[in-house]
This record gives sequence, structure tokens and C-alpha cells, in this order.
Amino acid sequence: MKTLVILISGRGSNMQALLEAGLPINRAVVISNNPDAEGLKIAESLGARALCINHRDFQDRETFDTALATEINRHQPNLIALAGFMRILSHDFVQQYQGRLINIHPSLLPAYPGLHTHRHALQEGVKIHGCTVHFVTATVDHGPIVIQAAVPVMPDDTSQALANRVLQAEHRIYPQAVRWFLQDQLRLSGQVVTVSRATTHDSVIYSPGLQN
Ligand code: GAR
Repeated sequence: MKTLVILISGRGSNMQALLEAGLPINRAVVISNNPDAEGLKIAESLGARALCINHRDFQDRETFDTALATEINRHQPNLIALAGFMRILSHDFVQQYQGRLINIHPSLLPAYPGLHTHRHALQEGVKIHGCTVHFVTATVDHGPIVIQAAVPVMPDDTSQALANRVLQAEHRIYPQAVRWFLQDQLRLSGQVVTVSRATTHDSVIYSPGLQN
């Protein structure tokens, strides 16, 4: 019996990608800190248990995190996946789930932690951008990296166009990372994650493309 808990705050497209991926789980529970999260309805329509713990009902971060952990623990999840969960989690919360709490972030970490990653990438003029799935540590958007996807930055990109291109890649790598975890294919050694039985390839992304 495997249970996946997914934490969301809004749209929930990564959550949807996880729920539609045919993962080896018996149960999915989606928890939002925001009662208006569109993802809650999507979760229900896909047969997941969906519930809200509104952070505004709590005085401070610690009491919210305690309530969230109490709810999570009722479900005894194998893995907790943050999917657009836009609350900073306290050190104690992260500590108790160390090694079974993962996050997806829309940049090639360690570049651009925090918000507005696509805007920063465009401002910096990088030619390759992307997304990262990583184990969560007490430092925001930091931790052992499981998988990354790189996308080219186009000369006429807007933040939105770039975000859309990255999001498509997010929907590919997050289910893959969760599947590896649930199939016990991930090994963590310090900051480094190794994936057993993963394929490797040596292709190079050139952006802009090479011309002879
Ligand atoms: C995604 O792009 C996710 O990577 C990002 O929020 C978006 C949520 O979209 N997460 C972070 O920035 C976390 N630091 P979604 O609700 O449609 O999955």
C-alpha cells in the first residue's frame, strides 16, 4: 500500500501530471493551503482525496506547519511531493520528512531559487533554462537534485512563453522522479542522488544552435 501526499497552492498542473501518470501508488491525497486553489477540484475529479488547511487560520508558520504535519501523518505517506506549494516550510517540518519530501522548481538549480525565475533568466540573458526536482532541505529551493530538464531560451521569448516551455518539461520530469522514488531507485549520498537503472546519454543542447 503506497500513499503519495501532494501539497499545492494553486493551479495544480504538476499535481495533475502526477495523478495522471499511472504511478505505483494506492492512494493520493492532495492538500492545499489555499481554499481557492484550482487544483483542488482537479484532484477530486481525478479520484484523489482533496482537502485544504488554510494557512490564514493560523497565527504563525509553526502552528500552521504543525497542523499540516498532523494531517499528513494521518495518511502515512511514503512520499510528500510539493507541487507549486508556495509556503516556506519551517526547519522542524522539513527535518521530520527528510529524505521523503521533494519539490519541483522552475529553474536549473542552483540558478534562480525563489520567485520569478523566468524573468530572471531572461534578464540575465541565459540561453538555456529549465527545471529541477530535488529533495527538500531547510534552505528554500535547495537540496539534492534528482532530475533536471533543460530548454532553450528563444530570442523573442516572453516570461510567459518561457514559463510554458519549462512547464511542459516539469510535467515530464516530476512523474519520473516520483516513480524512481517509489520504485526505490534513488540513493542519496550527501548532496548527490544516484538513480539506479536510469539511462544516460551524452547529447548536448546548443542554444542558439550551431551553424557551419
Ligand atoms: C510550477 O512552475 C512550479 O515549478 C513552481 O510553481 C508552479 C506551479 O504550477 N514552483 C515553485 O516556484 C516552487 N519554488 P502548478 O500549480 O501548475 O503545478
